[in-house]
Amino acid sequence: MQWRILEAPHGDLDHPDGWAYRGIAEVERQVALADRGTDDGAPTARELAVSMTDQTYRRRRRLVAVVDGGTPADGGTPAGGGTPAGGPLVVGHGFLGCNLRDNLHRADVYVAVAPPYRRRGIGAALADAVVALARAEPGRTTALSEVEFAAEPAADAPDALVAPTGNGRISADLPGLRFARRAGIGLTMISRRSVLRLPVSDDVARLEEQARAAAGPDYRLHVWRDDIPERWLAGYAALEERLTIDEPNPGLDVEPEHWDAERMRHEMRELREAGRGWLLTAAEHIPTGELVAATMLLYFPDRQAYSEQETTVVVPEHRGRRLGMLVKCVNLREHTRVRPATERIWTWNNEDNPHMLAINVAMGFRPAGGSAMLQAPLADLRTLSR
Ligand SMILES: CC(C)(COP(=O)(O)OP(=O)(O)OC[C@H]1O[C@@H](n2cnc3c(N)ncnc32)[C@H](O)[C@@H]1OP(=O)(O)O)[C@@H](O)C(=O)NCCC(=O)NCCS
Repeated sequence: MQWRILEAPHGDLDHPDGWAYRGIAEVERQVALADRGTDDGAPTARELAVSMTDQTYRRRRRLVAVVDGGTPADGGTPAGGGTPAGGPLVVGHGFLGCNLRDNLHRADVYVAVAPPYRRRGIGAALADAVVALARAEPGRTTALSEVEFAAEPAADAPDALVAPTGNGRISADLPGLRFARRAGIGLTMISRRSVLRLPVSDDVARLEEQARAAAGPDYRLHVWRDDIPERWLAGYAALEERLTIDEPNPGLDVEPEHWDAERMRHEMRELREAGRGWLLTAAEHIPTGELVAATMLLYFPDRQAYSEQETTVVVPEHRGRRLGMLVKCVNLREHTRVRPATERIWTWNNEDNPHMLAINVAMGFRPAGGSAMLQAPLADLRTLSR
């Protein structure tokens, strides 16, 4: 089988070159089904294309491995099933993401190959090409990557590998981990994926009542859908920034990110263009008029079955008053009202974040696999192609 690697042409889905993004989306869907057991959360072609159009805050490069005139190895739907007639078959892809306003030392790298095309050297060639792109970016010294998995192995499983932090396990036999270790990029930290099956039990209403009582009368809640009022934009951006300062990331060479009102406007524009919606509950501290806590749920108008729990943050001076639980319960209640048919909510938390995990477990979130965060000095990565 002849294959080659090329850079995905720039991202407009309506352009004849939109095949690349349809192809990447199909590869990601197949990889998610194979490695996570669900394609919930796999990016759509539209989301991928939109992420490429405005690179103000993050430079993104995408490579595709294509088989010209190829037929699928398994005889089924071609990877790149949305590919217009004549477009090449996409069987793998590579990604480089470089933050442009903070974390200037960091290069986020990722490769994936559709399962029927693995063990032919395609992943190695993609990885080498992505690393070459990263090395060509001035100042990037740390490579970060991620491998997702469907379930944490039992503690006594022979292949169980414990994160260096001591929290969280992954199977050392996972193809992505074997591949990454061969490239010299090692396990640093584990992030737990959890799922909340809907509808939630009555316990959540009780948790909300208790949290409201614990918080007391000094807080006013705001609930926003698909928008953040201009008056609160800078305050909410400060909370996003706070999260990047406070979220425990032991061992990871990541710096706090810089967020302001302009970046939030940019973020909201991108979410809308990608066809995503969101529900946000924020707590205002009435005596100071400041936003001090918030949580956000992302939903997908074209995908009823699931939503994703994103940012939850409480500023340090207001912790210990159950505000995290309060904003999450209120947001979830609002989600039930506007998205009654949704069956599950996914979330991710670092295994080294016991307070956030405790809130989620109390609300009914249950472990459902996770992802291993991998890291190495960019200069140390080994060439994989032979
Ligand atoms: C990881 C992944 C990209 C590898 O793609 P691939 O095309 O099969 O990779 P290659 O054929 O180029 O393999 C290169 C080397 O990696 C190692 N490797 C890859 N898959 C492996 C597996 N299943 N078991 C053991 N070693 C493996 C081997 O050393 C291999 O060389 P070899 O075949 O000569 O032994 C693919 O399994 C995948 O898409 N996984 C899901 C996404 C992911 O985890 N990405 C990694 C993030 S960095």
